Amino acid sequence: MTEILPADKAGVARAAAMLRRGALVAFGTETVYGLGGDATNAEAVAAIFHAKGRPHFNPLICHYPSSDSAFRHVVANERALRVADAFWPGPLTLVLPRRPDCPVALLTSAGLDTLAVRVPAQPVAMALLRETGRPVAAPSANRSGQVSPTSAQHVLDGLAGRIAAVLDSGPCKVGVESTVLDLSERDPVLLRPGGVTVEDLEACLGPIQRGTPHAAGQAGEGLRSPGMMVSHYAPDLPVRLNAATVADDEALLAFGPPLPGGRCQFQLSASGDTIEAAGRLFEGLRWLDANGARLGARGIAVMPVPDSGLGLAINDRLQRAAAPRGG
Ligand code: TXA
Ligand code: MG
Repeated sequence: MTEILPADKAGVARAAAMLRRGALVAFGTETVYGLGGDATNAEAVAAIFHAKGRPHFNPLICHYPSSDSAFRHVVANERALRVADAFWPGPLTLVLPRRPDCPVALLTSAGLDTLAVRVPAQPVAMALLRETGRPVAAPSANRSGQVSPTSAQHVLDGLAGRIAAVLDSGPCKVGVESTVLDLSERDPVLLRPGGVTVEDLEACLGPIQRGTPHAAGQAGEGLRSPGMMVSHYAPDLPVRLNAATVADDEALLAFGPPLPGGRCQFQLSASGDTIEAAGRLFEGLRWLDANGARLGARGIAVMPVPDSGLGLAINDRLQRAAAPRGG
């Protein structure tokens, strides 16, 4: 059962408590309703992908109650400070490099070195973010492939029974998603047009490049999002899939009861749970890369993961990690 929480003090407090213990809570922003989860909790983030039925780990936006709190997790450059000052709180998302000590789960960024951050303007959302005291990862609160929701009822139409609660703050004023602006490289790039117009952004920053549209599955030159590039998932050590045995000079990425042998191992999910495994995947690849190499491993052997549930997205990422390396 999905609880419908009123947008009063008690409702916000209950929603915040649910988020803090790892449950999923949809909440209204000025753009669309978001499907929120504690961004520092990898399992909660994996559960977001699962609830949406999102076929790939498309990176998620992290929501904060203030620019100060957002800029504690990403490196703000001069442009970022300027647009944040002009448009936050509001329907603008900035893609910036993660700080080395950023506590946000790697799965939120889909393994990228950047994080998308936003400070929404909706008062109830702001109260919720303040009260939760953690960054909240939230894609639009619809089933994958369906239209973004702008009311609590829309959320329930798609996600009733799949999430713990929806905080009903009424209809969304903006109704289209936030503008996504990548400021992580030399020139600003518009990754998605949205609630803040390009004209307004250019008045603040000067000319902005238009990024390639990046609907899931659409690849191409100049694509910086949503993590469809093979190299972003490739560890330094070569990856061997569907391992039935482990060699002495390999590190093991285990799923379920681990194979014997190998230099070291990282367990994705001892019980074979794809939600838990999805939450640990990017951490695991990084950990094996660092520790495997240190212990003399010359490759990573990966145990088979079923294609069901989040397994499909896990296998998509693992296949990219194992793909032949281009120059
Ligand atoms: O208005 C909105 O932005 C809503 C509300 C809930 O805040 N959220 C939303 O999230 O629309 P979602 O997941 O539907 O869209 C997030 C977009 C995707 O296009 C994703 O690829 C991009 O932001 N994105 C997220 N993190 C990124 C990153 N590190 N680098 C590049 N693009 C990123
Ligand atoms: Mg969406």
